[in-house]
Amino acid sequence: METVLSYLKNNFNRFVDEFCEYLRFPSVSAQKEHKEDTAKCADWIANHCKNIGLDARVYKTNNHPIVIANTPFKDNKPRIIIYGHYDVQPPEPLELWASPPFSPRIADGKVYARGASDNKGQHLAHIKAVEAYLKSNVELPCNITFLIEGEEEVGSAELLKFLKENKKMLKCDVVMASDNGIPGLDYPGLTYALRGVAAMEIKVYGPSRDLHSGIYGGAVDNPSMVLCQILAQLRDKNGKINIPGFYDDVRKLTSVERKSLARIPFNEREFKRFLEVPKLFGERGYSPIEQRTARPTIEINGITSGYQGEGSKTIIPSVASAKLTFRLVPDQDKDKILDLVFKHIKKICPPTVRIELIKGHSGDPYILNPDSPLCKAALTALKKAFNREPVLLREGGSIPIITDIKRILGVDTILAGLALPDDNAHSPNEKFDLRCFEIGMKMSAILLQELGCALKK
Ligand code: BES
Ligand code: ZN
Repeated sequence: METVLSYLKNNFNRFVDEFCEYLRFPSVSAQKEHKEDTAKCADWIANHCKNIGLDARVYKTNNHPIVIANTPFKDNKPRIIIYGHYDVQPPEPLELWASPPFSPRIADGKVYARGASDNKGQHLAHIKAVEAYLKSNVELPCNITFLIEGEEEVGSAELLKFLKENKKMLKCDVVMASDNGIPGLDYPGLTYALRGVAAMEIKVYGPSRDLHSGIYGGAVDNPSMVLCQILAQLRDKNGKINIPGFYDDVRKLTSVERKSLARIPFNEREFKRFLEVPKLFGERGYSPIEQRTARPTIEINGITSGYQGEGSKTIIPSVASAKLTFRLVPDQDKDKILDLVFKHIKKICPPTVRIELIKGHSGDPYILNPDSPLCKAALTALKKAFNREPVLLREGGSIPIITDIKRILGVDTILAGLALPDDNAHSPNEKFDLRCFEIGMKMSAILLQELGCALKK
C-alpha cells in the first residue's frame, strides 16, 4: 500500500492538470447544443483510461455514450464496478460565475468549474487510485470496471437500458461510487441511503388567448391564480404534504437511527448564514438533517405564466405552468406517488380551467443495511484514509441508477462521498477542494483493499 500511496503523492500535480483538462469539456447532458462536447468528453475519459492501462470502450447509445473500462482481469478475484458520471448540470446563470464555468480556475487549493465536484473530480480520484496500483506494479485486490455514464443529470435512461441488456457483462460483487457528500474533511462518512425523486409538470389552461384584465376580469378565472391555489394546497404550514396516501409507505425512522443521524455535525446558525435565509423551514417534528435526508418533500422547481417583461401589462394569462419534484424515501414508490398526486390535483382543480399533468423523470429511493460486512469494511477503509471515525449518512439527493443497479444486477453500492457542503453543486461557482481530490485517491486505494479482502471471505 505504501508504494501505491507514494505514487499518488508524487504524481499529484500532474493529476491536477489532467483534472483541469477533463473539466474543459462542456458536457452538459441536458442541452442539445452540447451533444458533441459531451461525446468528446466521453472519448477523452476513455482514452485517459486506456493510457493508464485499462481496456476502455465507448458505447454509443440513443443519447450520450457510456464508457466502460476494465483492469486486466484475473480469475478468482472479486469484481468491483466503480460508477461515475461525466455529464454536468447546465452552468446558467453565467453572470453569477466569478470565472467561466468551463475554464477551470485554481484558487485557495480549490478548482472552480462546472462538474468539478459533481462528478468529474470524485470519480477521477478513483481512476487515479487504480492508475497508482497499475503503474507501480502492485497487484490489485480485485478486478475493476469503471462505468462512467453521460446522463446522470437527466435521469440515466440509456444506462438503465444498458444494464438490462448487459447483465452478464456487468456481473459483479459490489459497486462503489462517490457522487455524494460528507459533512466536512474531518467527518468522513458512509452513505447508506439516498432519496428518490419524481418529477412532473402541471399546465393550467384558461381562455384560448391572453385577455384584457379590465374588460374580462371578474367573470373569467385566472390560470395563474388557479395554479397558485392548487400548488399552495399541496403543502400545509407545518411542512406536511397534503395529498391523501402520500405518507402511507414512508418507512419510519427508528430511535436508533435518529440517534445516529443526530451524531452528524450540524450547526443551524451556520447553515442559515451559509444559505442566507432568515429562518429555516421544514416538516414539524423532525431535525433539519432528518428533513433533508429521511423525509419526503415537495418542491416547485419553476413557475411560468403571463407577462414577465418590463413595466406592467394588464392581462389574464391564457396559460400557467409549473415544474415540480417530489423527493421520496424508502419505501415510497415513484409511480404510485405520481398516481396519487395526479388524482389529487385533478380532484382539487376547479371546473373553470383545463389542466394537463405530465410525468417527468423519476427514480426510487435507495437504502442498504449499514451493518453488512461490506459496509463494515468500507467504514474501516474510511477510518484509515481520513484518520477519523466515519459517520453513517443518509443523503437527500438522488442517484436513481443506484437503485436500478440493485434491482437489475442484484448488488449493493458503497457510497463514499467526497463532496463538501459548500461545493455549490448545480449552482454557480461549483468547486472541488484539492484536499478532497487527494484524500479521495487514498480512500479509493484503501477501499479497494478492504472491500477486496471482505469479498474474498
Ligand atoms: N450527485 C448528485 C446526487 C447527490 C447529491 C447525491 C448530493 C447525494 C448528495 C447527482 O449528480 C444529482 O444531482 N442527481 C439528481 C438526479 C435527478 C436529475 C434524477 C438530483 O438529485 O437532483
Ligand atoms: Zn448532480
